[in-house]
Amino acid sequence: MSNKSRKILVTCALPYANGPIHIGHMLEHIQADIWVRYQRMRNNQVWFISSDDAHGTAIMLKSEKLGIKPTKLIKKIKEEHIVDFSNFNISHDNYHSTHCIENLFLLRKIFLSLIDQKLINQKNIFQFYDKTKKMFLPDRFIKGTCPFCSAKNQNGDNCEICSSIYEPTDLVSPISAISNSVPILKKTTHLYFNLPAFANMLNTWIYSGILEKSVVKKTEEWLQSGLKEWGISRDAPYFGFKIPNFSDKYFYVWLDAPIGYISAFKNLCNKNKKIDFNEFWDKQSKCELYHFIGKDIIYFHTLFWPAILEASSYRKPNGIFVHGHLTINGLKLSKSRGFLITASDWIQCFDSDSLRYYYASKLTNNINDIEMNLENFIQKINSDIVNKLVNLASRSASFIHKYFDGYLSDSLEDFYLYQSCIDISKKIENFFENRQFSAVIRECTKLLDLANQYINERKPWKIKEDNFDKLHGICTMGVNLFRLVMIFLKPIIPDLAKKTEFFLMSDLTWEGIKKPLLSQKIKQFKQLYNRINADKILQLSHLHK
Ligand code: MSP
Ligand code: ZN
Repeated sequence: MSNKSRKILVTCALPYANGPIHIGHMLEHIQADIWVRYQRMRNNQVWFISSDDAHGTAIMLKSEKLGIKPTKLIKKIKEEHIVDFSNFNISHDNYHSTHCIENLFLLRKIFLSLIDQKLINQKNIFQFYDKTKKMFLPDRFIKGTCPFCSAKNQNGDNCEICSSIYEPTDLVSPISAISNSVPILKKTTHLYFNLPAFANMLNTWIYSGILEKSVVKKTEEWLQSGLKEWGISRDAPYFGFKIPNFSDKYFYVWLDAPIGYISAFKNLCNKNKKIDFNEFWDKQSKCELYHFIGKDIIYFHTLFWPAILEASSYRKPNGIFVHGHLTINGLKLSKSRGFLITASDWIQCFDSDSLRYYYASKLTNNINDIEMNLENFIQKINSDIVNKLVNLASRSASFIHKYFDGYLSDSLEDFYLYQSCIDISKKIENFFENRQFSAVIRECTKLLDLANQYINERKPWKIKEDNFDKLHGICTMGVNLFRLVMIFLKPIIPDLAKKTEFFLMSDLTWEGIKKPLLSQKIKQFKQLYNRINADKILQLSHLHK
């Protein structure tokens, strides 16, 4: 790769505007934010955007329940989401909403071009209709008995017990999950996007190095079982954008949601005139585009989205980075079934660096689920951040102020050791680039063990006054090893990095790796991070109740 700085656009999946951000959503934004902060440290130009996904039946029903207009609901939720992300230092350059003028404009433009190319077909179908609610039922809102294994109370499109996939009309004794009444079958007309027309393109594209192997495998299965036309319209009542010249029909939320990636960027360009929209979205764009998403929405991002982009002559992504789901003590995060920790609950009990560090210690570039265990979390933070990292700074820096007026020495006591430590930066760079953050953490803790062992062996506390140069060199070495690890960890724990920059009176930069801090003044050491107490778990579980 050339040394010229890269131009990169990074997105996170757009959270639905019908509820609070929980620490499962936060996993994705933290993962992307670490990657973005690393790229920025390497002097690449990065734009990081996300948005609320403001449309769909669930949002309509939620606002009905609260007795407010959907527009009022999504405005309030968006404000809350922005506060949550800022509490976790997520450095979005723009956080927008799909219910916006830019999105409406782009959606219409794309839709008209699909029509022009005869990629949209109209079909009459029978669909379940709830007579008491006077609405057609989305698959998610129909429950019934699985036609394959007879398990009761299964969803309209798949069985959680035997994993079969079926049509809602195949369900035995279907009922409406909204009113609990028995739905009837009613005729309606819908618009379909000709997805099968893109099978060839997709069959090549998925092998072009943009997907990890496990994601290719999943997508392959769908491609091999044959692509179907994709319904892009929904009947009123619905909260979304209306389809022009088609009475009482709305665009399906999953059509305008990914277009939200483009419109959030468009909105950023409107605010910052220096950014060139076309440079990023033209078919021939040389800029890089990456989507961070969870494994439950692979389908939309590896099939529909690239087909829509191809059809409307926009560029396609260079990578779709898929993560697994967060589980807590082995349980899925769910309001109804188990345990749900919201971002705002978390921040009342713990800090954000701790969650960022813990996630990083578990994140890889594969789609395995990420298991969170709160006891293990506290143990990991206290052991790594307090006992190894901050302790290294404290035990080295205390002497610098006691005997040397706060000044570091003009040379390192063991230059070769320092050199060998900076040699791992190439490895760390690769791990960051490939999103193997757990490997970054592993290298850093190895380094910290080495550094603490160095101090243990040199025993600065035993050095006598006649050997003060030696003492000065050892402590300067300790401070520099601490600084080195903090440079590596800066994208992961930005709060502690900021405090460290204040303490060392100098910025933590990647270029600084090769230039140790010498002959320079540092501030008196003040506790940089407090040990986490185990009774915080109790406090969190009380909030949850
Ligand atoms: N609105 C759609 C995305 C549209 S993108 C054009 C959506 N929203 S969501 O709120 O349900 O999820 C947003 C993201 O959070 C998804 O990538 C999803 O995988 C992720 N997560 C939701 N729960 C999660 C966990 N428990 N763990 C990790 N990620 C989770 O899907
Ligand atoms: Zn079943």
